[in-house]
Amino acid sequence: MTEYEEIIRKLKADKENAKRDVKLIVDESTAAKFKTSYLSPASVLAESTQAIKTLDPKYKPLVGQASNEHKQYLSGLYDEAVISMKENQLKASLTSEKLDITLPGRPVQRGRLHPDTQILRELLDIFSAMGFQVFQSREVETDEYNFQLLNFPVGHPARDMQDTYFMDVADRGDNPLVLRTHTSPGQIRVMREISSLNPVDPPPVRVIVPGMVYRYEQVDVRHETQFDQLEGLAVGEGITFSDLKGTLTDMARRLFGPDARTRFRASYFPFTEPSAEFDIQCFQCKGAGCGVCGGGWLEIGGSGMVHPNVLRNGGYDPGRFTGFAFGFGVQRIAMLRYGINDIRYFWDNDLRFLEQF
Ligand code: FA5
Repeated sequence: MTEYEEIIRKLKADKENAKRDVKLIVDESTAAKFKTSYLSPASVLAESTQAIKTLDPKYKPLVGQASNEHKQYLSGLYDEAVISMKENQLKASLTSEKLDITLPGRPVQRGRLHPDTQILRELLDIFSAMGFQVFQSREVETDEYNFQLLNFPVGHPARDMQDTYFMDVADRGDNPLVLRTHTSPGQIRVMREISSLNPVDPPPVRVIVPGMVYRYEQVDVRHETQFDQLEGLAVGEGITFSDLKGTLTDMARRLFGPDARTRFRASYFPFTEPSAEFDIQCFQCKGAGCGVCGGGWLEIGGSGMVHPNVLRNGGYDPGRFTGFAFGFGVQRIAMLRYGINDIRYFWDNDLRFLEQF
């Protein structure tokens, strides 16, 4: 047998072997094994290509052609086998990891309103039903509006009730900027705005002023350093303390139901005379006294008849006009309403708390 015939015989045998071995390709490793046996530098194919160099020139083109055809055959065999192996693998994984499209999907987490916002909106609804309008006032105030125009002169001891954050702005003298300690400066701002419409015969006022207030405070279950207040102010002719009591009692019943128990306690605020604290009976102990309320009642806010100096500072003649005002702690109301026993939960951003509302 000539060298040429020997090469052709080997290629034929290689072809038969490849036809048999291609059936063994079932995964990546058997595919790699096939490639090493038939398409690597150690294969019969490579050997025949190598042999061309030393072959009798008349056989060179014949072996060259035979080697090329063999290479194409083997590559085609290999590519087809890999494609069908991948298809089989996909089929197998689709049957083993069956997708059940009738299963309910994962629920999408839905956001909700913060309990503070919920209660505030309820309060706004209640007071708008009574004819109050919403007035928004600023959070950064001047000492003048936060204290002086409300009858807290510079150095007055009543300022100790509301210690605050003063902003160190040069050259403002006795009138530094402060983060408002209460929403009451809104009283002056709204009275000035409305009375300026007609200074001789100013229109009556009936507003609520919601918003965040700030105090330098020892934090505990009932006290935070920032909290929401809801201020109320009614100014007109012939307004009495009975109007104040009626309005707040009605508000408590609309919010907590007809059996809600309320209490007015004589108190002192420089900007109201007379003044009263407004309490609602504690949800937790029903008046017996507990860690949330102290003595059975939870203080919701301060209230009173607008002081003549404050009316005057707002542009209303105290000889003709009277008025009442109140200021609630919104979180305190939410605590009563939802049975929350610690005010610190409100700004913790703990989803376990927030998801309950
Ligand atoms: C005032 O802030 C007065 N401006 C209220 C007022 C308005 C009186 C109009 C008369 C007329 P007081 O400091 O008591 O008052 O606060 C009012 C309410 O805010 C309190 O009753 C309480 O419900 C709430 N509050 C006070 N301090 C805190 C605090 N640190 N954390 C949470 N809530 C508070």
